[in-house]
Amino acid sequence: MSSYSNLHAGSFILISGIQASIYLWQVFLKSQLLLEGMLNGFITSLTNVKYYSFTNVFILVLSLLFKFIYTHWLQGKVALITGGASGIGESTARLFSRHGAKVVIADIQDNLGLSVCKDLSPTSASFVHCDVTNEKEVENAVNLAVATHGKLDIMFNNAGIAGEAKPHILDNDKTEFERVLNVNVVGAFLGTKHAARVMIPAGNGSIITTASVCSTVGGGASHAYTSSKHAVVGLARNAAVELGKYGIRVNCVSPYLVATPLAKDLFKLDDDGVSGVYSNLKGKVLNAEDVAEAALYLAGDESKYVSGHNLLVDGGFTVVNPSFGIF
Ligand SMILES: NC(=O)c1ccc[n+]([C@@H]2O[C@H](COP(=O)([O-])OP(=O)(O)OC[C@H]3O[C@@H](n4cnc5c(N)ncnc54)[C@H](O)[C@@H]3O)[C@@H](O)[C@H]2O)c1
Repeated sequence: MSSYSNLHAGSFILISGIQASIYLWQVFLKSQLLLEGMLNGFITSLTNVKYYSFTNVFILVLSLLFKFIYTHWLQGKVALITGGASGIGESTARLFSRHGAKVVIADIQDNLGLSVCKDLSPTSASFVHCDVTNEKEVENAVNLAVATHGKLDIMFNNAGIAGEAKPHILDNDKTEFERVLNVNVVGAFLGTKHAARVMIPAGNGSIITTASVCSTVGGGASHAYTSSKHAVVGLARNAAVELGKYGIRVNCVSPYLVATPLAKDLFKLDDDGVSGVYSNLKGKVLNAEDVAEAALYLAGDESKYVSGHNLLVDGGFTVVNPSFGIF
């Protein structure tokens, strides 16, 4: 064979090899989704069996091992979570960390925040005292995340307060109204601003703010709280439009009622009381982990083309108009 045909055959083998590798990689990526579904199925059915045979235990251990390896959605990412010491923020910190992210918890409850970090590994979680209404402290929290981990991929503006439960507008005073807007809206603004400051040069990032079902309907909470949650959706939409040109996505996650200290204090209910409140989805109770899963989706590359969105985690609550009573 001439050296020309040898070269020709060599290039053919090289190109076919590259094409085959790309194809296999695509199959591998698609099979991950399938695999995850299968693993979840195995784990659910095997944890419910009455008698454990050796084969059952073997498949269960193998499924858990594969699930651990294949479901690290945030591997290599860095997240800053405000209000991460309790409730939805705490669950999100735990979930993000489980998915391989380095997590920085920013909160005013130092002891709680530190104890969550202690529970997670010290290499993957750290705490910074940060009052979200104080620009210097928000700036410092963002700078600390970058100084510790080299970048900031995810900003979760989650800190929030409910304010006083005074339904009648004449009982509401200006100071209290401003206090709620200061934490819920100004806090989200400062978090968005300082996250954008470090995300713009990187040309990438995901900013998420916890809004609420009160961002789309009236009558769910006080005037101040409802106003604040409508406002953060507006802020997220505006920021999504502005920051899109830098490759930064901005979204909201909007939960229905979750039994956290905030909701239990506001409605004077315990866990059972909260789960007994009207739900459009019978037999299912929304918990902080469910909201964390929605935040995980918005944080990771799986939502790479989702921006300016308000993801309602409400079991359909906000699309129901019970006055029709048809169903
Ligand atoms: N629990 C619900 O039913 C519900 C429903 C919809 C939306 N939300 C929203 O979810 C978010 C998290 O609330 P949660 O229910 O987990 O309540 P939570 O009280 O368990 O957590 C709120 C966290 O925010 C922190 N925080 C409060 N003020 C702060 C400040 N100035 N600076 C920094 N941190 C501060 C608190 O210390 C706490 O750790 C809030 O924005 C809330 O409005 C909650």
